[in-house]
Amino acid sequence: MSTQKYTLPPLPYAYDALEPVISSQIMTLHHQKHHQTYITNLNAALEAQSTALSTQNISALISLQQKIKFNGGGHINHSLFWENLAPYNSPSTNIESSAPDLKRAIEAQFGSVEGFIKAFNATLLGIQGSGWGWLVKSNTPEGKLEIVTTKDQDPVSGLVPIFGVDMWEHAYYLQYLNNKAGYVEGIWRVVNWGVAEERFRNGIEGAVKL
Ligand SMILES: [Fe+2]
Repeated sequence: MSTQKYTLPPLPYAYDALEPVISSQIMTLHHQKHHQTYITNLNAALEAQSTALSTQNISALISLQQKIKFNGGGHINHSLFWENLAPYNSPSTNIESSAPDLKRAIEAQFGSVEGFIKAFNATLLGIQGSGWGWLVKSNTPEGKLEIVTTKDQDPVSGLVPIFGVDMWEHAYYLQYLNNKAGYVEGIWRVVNWGVAEERFRNGIEGAVKL
């Protein structure tokens, strides 16, 4: 039985578009090597799962669950992350013009955009080991905003991911070395507030489209 094969989505901008905040070298490796590896491993695990299902190999099915979770999560998280970023100095990086509704909600809940960014940065810098920081919206009618973290490649589940920040060392180390705070502070200059606004208003159909 053949299974669906996932493929690497193209970046919505050039590899050097985020400079000087994120180097072309990091973006190239991160996209072409790291993200591609999650997809390759996800496809292999799904193929093995298909075989295990057809042969009713329950122990193989159980052992494949973690691989599917890790690599599937890696594919989902990176696909969301690329869209969360926008070229340096592009109009989408302006929260005032690109995300009026989200800005109002952030101000209502966190007091100010600056207060929100301070809280988000503290959360990112508090992540131990590898993981992600997210601004999420609850699926309830009032759509409460919340800052959450996920470990390793665990995706956000049951909440709408407005935007996420990759806090694995591969996301910044070649450029920022141990200056994790420099990466965290810089990322706000390349946030795609237009995409964040769209997810805030309309959610993400079917959790995540891949
Ligand atoms: Fe990553």
